[in-house]
Amino acid sequence: MFGKITLSIIKPDAVKKGYIVPILSKIVHSGFHIIALKMTELSKTSAKKFYAEHKNKLFFESLIKFMSSGPIVSVILQKENAVKDFRILIGNTNPIHAKEGTIRNLYASSLEKNAIHGSDNNQNAFEESLFHFSNREIFFK
Ligand code: CMP
Repeated sequence: MFGKITLSIIKPDAVKKGYIVPILSKIVHSGFHIIALKMTELSKTSAKKFYAEHKNKLFFESLIKFMSSGPIVSVILQKENAVKDFRILIGNTNPIHAKEGTIRNLYASSLEKNAIHGSDNNQNAFEESLFHFSNREIFFK
């Protein structure tokens, strides 16, 4: 499965605004298969672990507060070239620069509250998937 999956998170801003279904619908219509999905909440401790690579950034504390502020939806998606194609579908990290029709262009409200996460490489896709799901919760197609 290495190279054929990506981990996505529908973030608290998008969940609060009622965008779970429109976002998942767009993802599935773009050819991705949902092979694991759960609505959950990140504790501050889990959020800090998940975003450890950003721990020295100025925005880290604010990011942790935001990501643990409410429910999220974690999803593993399967497709050829999943990581690359998904990052095209979600658009630039900063919604101001996200192309028209991308998920962040449509649903994000700021650089921090940018609606959705997508893994940035195959190794992270694998590790992030196992951060959110056990093997028994993943149903490969
Ligand atoms: P994502 O790429 O999913 O994971 C890291 C997150 O940090 C990113 O989305 C944004 O939500 C957030 N982020 C990145 N850069 C900044 C920034 N300069 N200021 C605030 N938040 C940021």
